[in-house]
Amino acid sequence: MGYCAQLIQPLYICRTIENMIYVSRKEHFNAAHKLYNPSWSAEKNKEVFGPCANENWHGHNFELITTVAGNPDPETGFVIDLKKLSSLIRSEVIEKLDHKNLNLDVDFMKDKMASTENITIEIWKILEPKIAQISKYGTLHSLRLYETPRNFVDYFGG
Ligand code: NI
Repeated sequence: MGYCAQLIQPLYICRTIENMIYVSRKEHFNAAHKLYNPSWSAEKNKEVFGPCANENWHGHNFELITTVAGNPDPETGFVIDLKKLSSLIRSEVIEKLDHKNLNLDVDFMKDKMASTENITIEIWKILEPKIAQISKYGTLHSLRLYETPRNFVDYFGG
């Protein structure tokens, strides 16, 4: 039981329902941000966003977990080469975010609220097509982004 889906020539993925497995890579970045809605008063921003509305920014230690789902390649046993996945995440995402101000320095966050939710959605848009280019047997399944060890979001695309 299985299928091959042609995406963009000559890219395609091959999958079976059996042996579906999930492979993850964790990467790290530090970044500053501010949550502030300019159409609200300073008082309302403080009430809604608390310390995240601090005018002079604040930072977080973010952890990004990228999970790829698929079947092991019969030739390598890998769903995806984790060295390739790691260098892809670093070059396409981490280098653009690490030691940056999310509100000011990051092109794909321009004009968006710099929330963990919005960052994760934008990272998905970057990584999903790139992962399809480096893995015949795996596709991006989910992203988990930790803003703090206790606060994190999960995104499954869509
Ligand atoms: Ni914050």
